[in-house]
Amino acid sequence: MIDPAGPALDALLSWGDVVRRDLPWRRTRDPFAILVAEVMLQQTQVDRVIPRWLRFLERWATPASLAAAGLSDVLVEWSGLGYPRRARNLHLAAGEVVERFAGSLPRDLDALLSLPGVGAYTARAVQVFAFEVDTGVVDTNIARVLARVTGRRLTAREAQALADAAVPPGRSWEHNQTLMDLGATVCRRRPTCEACPIAEWCSWRGDAGESADPAIGSAGASGRQARFEGSDRQLRGRLMAALAVGDVALDDVGRVVALPDDPQRCARVVASLVRDGLVAVVDDGAGGRG
Ligand code: ADE
Repeated sequence: MIDPAGPALDALLSWGDVVRRDLPWRRTRDPFAILVAEVMLQQTQVDRVIPRWLRFLERWATPASLAAAGLSDVLVEWSGLGYPRRARNLHLAAGEVVERFAGSLPRDLDALLSLPGVGAYTARAVQVFAFEVDTGVVDTNIARVLARVTGRRLTAREAQALADAAVPPGRSWEHNQTLMDLGATVCRRRPTCEACPIAEWCSWRGDAGESADPAIGSAGASGRQARFEGSDRQLRGRLMAALAVGDVALDDVGRVVALPDDPQRCARVVASLVRDGLVAVVDDGAGGRG
């Protein structure tokens, strides 16, 4: 694997110094701003996140200000980003940070993991990108790189151990951001190995056809998003978009989600949003915002 004292890491970091993307959340070490970025980036592309992250933080710059906001305002601010449960969890997490951590995000892994919506990736991303802790982050891009470099399918535990072992002490911020960019721009699903700074240390090197891509089936590396078109998620998105503008009568849900002839499915969509705490049904027959 990549030896943190070896030449591959030097090559990776030198490459990163030149090509690492200048993204707005890379200009701050504020843990709350990093958390918001990481939650937005979990399922939304970088280009779409940039303006929304800036606007969100202009409105709520601290856990205390977000915790004091109403959930419906947060959901409206989130609209169009998708997966609104993320917004609800972020709002809940802000409340817990105020109550349990005096308003400042903790640096400790277990404390971060105890927050709603914060999993193994997000907790370590906050540790590394805000606090510069020497640990590895494993997102889909990095998991793909790790599997290919080692030449085998990895379990989540193995990927985390390899990621941790590869961190050059004191340089975890640059190292992890660079690995992320390597996965996002070079070691993509269809890699451009000729542009890779660590190709000579890579076990796979994109020899597609010769040997199977070890990233396929490797933990965290091969997730393709479920089809959106025609999915319940699409219908949930349409209803949330309408609710960002105003209340929707239950009788109107079919029209709003463009599924006028399937009241059962509409009811299922409403029920799932209610269950997630994103929508409230009020008894004058109109669905209110949660
Ligand atoms: N995706 C998730 N975290 C990211 C980061 N810090 N930079 C770029 N893309 C990301």
